[in-house]
Amino acid sequence: MRIAVCPGSFDPVTKGHLDIIERASKLFDKVIVLVSFNPSKRATAAFTIQERMEFILRVTEDMDNILVDCNSGLLADYLKETRACAIVKGLRAVSDFEYEFQMALANKKLYPDAETVFLTTSAENMYLSSSVVKEIASLGGDISGFVPEQILEDIKSRLKP
Ligand code: PNS
Repeated sequence: MRIAVCPGSFDPVTKGHLDIIERASKLFDKVIVLVSFNPSKRATAAFTIQERMEFILRVTEDMDNILVDCNSGLLADYLKETRACAIVKGLRAVSDFEYEFQMALANKKLYPDAETVFLTTSAENMYLSSSVVKEIASLGGDISGFVPEQILEDIKSRLKP
């Protein structure tokens, strides 16, 4: 069985993330969406790990090969434990590249049995990020184009000004 891990902060999950998750689910037998710890984003966290997982569960309900989990340790250790063969990440603009390239190389060094697979973000999600969603929502803007329908009201009510 070919297992892929799709790691991220998912604070909260966006339409851009969901697009990558859906496409990954067609490429692998099982995809684990892993809410992971990114130390550089600790200060800007809006949702708890449990909330983020619950949002992902809700928006992936109709996909049968998706599993949602969380991890506070190294991604490489998680890959080893789950015998995953790939890390799937979405690449948006060029600005993502250096950081993602660095992580891909580090993960390959720590756990050589998994490959990082980059999926190109769909054009409409090119400039979408959780940070943008949080900023727009907290200033009272319309985020309906950015987050999946099933979680829109929860996110709006939590982040409203
Ligand atoms: O959505 P993000 O914040 O860009 O995702 C980054 C994330 C969470 C995937 C990355 O920070 C990560 O893998 N964290 C787990 C800890 C780890 O393994 N760090 C070393 C990465 S080379």
